[in-house]
Amino acid sequence: MREKNVILKNKVIFVTGAAGFIGSNLVKELLCEVQPVHIVGIDNMNDYYDVSIKEYRLRQIEKLVEEHPESTWKFVKGSIADKVLVDSLFEEYRPGVVVNLAAQAGVRYSITNPDVYIQSNLIGFYNILEACRHSYDNGQTGVEHLVYASSSSVYGTNKKVPYSTEDNVDNPVSLYAATKKSNELMAHAYSKLYNIPSTGLRFFTVYGPAGRPDMAYFGFTNKLRNNETIQIFNYGNCKRDFTYVDDIVEGVKRVMQAAPEKKVGEDGLPVPPYAVYNIGNSHPENLLEFVDILQQELIRAGVLPEDYDFEAHKKLVPMQPGDVPVTYADTTALEEDFGFRPSTSLRDGLRKFAEWYKEFYM
Ligand SMILES: NC(=O)c1ccc[n+]([C@@H]2O[C@H](COP(=O)([O-])OP(=O)(O)OC[C@H]3O[C@@H](n4cnc5c(N)ncnc54)[C@H](O)[C@@H]3O)[C@@H](O)[C@H]2O)c1
Repeated sequence: MREKNVILKNKVIFVTGAAGFIGSNLVKELLCEVQPVHIVGIDNMNDYYDVSIKEYRLRQIEKLVEEHPESTWKFVKGSIADKVLVDSLFEEYRPGVVVNLAAQAGVRYSITNPDVYIQSNLIGFYNILEACRHSYDNGQTGVEHLVYASSSSVYGTNKKVPYSTEDNVDNPVSLYAATKKSNELMAHAYSKLYNIPSTGLRFFTVYGPAGRPDMAYFGFTNKLRNNETIQIFNYGNCKRDFTYVDDIVEGVKRVMQAAPEKKVGEDGLPVPPYAVYNIGNSHPENLLEFVDILQQELIRAGVLPEDYDFEAHKKLVPMQPGDVPVTYADTTALEEDFGFRPSTSLRDGLRKFAEWYKEFYM
């Protein structure tokens, strides 16, 4: 087990992508579990998907802030690609912990919209690294831990499963994956050069209430409800390690509190305080089984009628460019170092999603 060496209580925590799916859930968890805590969130509120969901998530956060007057929450609408803004926020709030979740997500969108991936995922991340580096200027304590989102997509079409952080990941099959692998490389260089403790987390297909409408489970639900046909790629021969958002947030929270230790190597220079972990369910599900459970839960929640003709609304189609046939996380290191592994079953997670969907849209 890794020792807890970062105290979240009373700390300023900078969360990027705070109105995003994972970011907003992390902010809510911190507000509930750490008292007092001071969170500064940034998000550019882009319209890659329905902005009203991002606004809804911010309202959920605001409600919790009212219940926890001892803590503070400052939301800034802006981009991490704006260096002047990022620097001024670090200067003003001096965060002790930084969690970088802001990114342009999505594999398919990176084929048609590469520019935004370079801006948010590369330039944005570089700005965060630079701000962390300068947080130590003039002998200041600065950032104790930088935690950032990587992705299972870095494994590309690797044949060996489960995917381990020991595996070679030099063959990305999308620009999105390439930006995430680049983040890990950039973080390594900054950890080595400036002794910034950093941990990258490779998330595996995260789902849950108020999730991302661009992801399959959400898109399928919208289509089925509108009587449209859903396309199941690779003729259903896809396996995904679906990870419930609460499990991801629990993992991030534990990781935030245990930064890789600063050590000096034989050459008198820092050994990079750097780590990368997988966070996934480690139990891949076949896409057809997944769709089957989703359909049952949508009926149970009243999103679809009891007699819904599901077979008439599904079409099996070939693989899409940039997609991978399987994702499967080896979470041994996460378990050993943090005593935790995601465990929410797909049925329980999809049930919560279906119930939320019913309440939000119907
Ligand atoms: N959800 C998943 O299955 C999954 C899997 C692997 C990795 N990830 C990574 O986890 C992180 C969070 O993902 P998510 O599912 O919550 O996605 P999300 O799109 O819901 O959240 C990202 C948030 O970042 C914001 N954002 C984008 N560019 C920005 C910029 N330049 N400046 C400020 N804000 C910006 C967006 O408006 C959005 O609210 C991302 O880095 C993503 O790549 C997610």
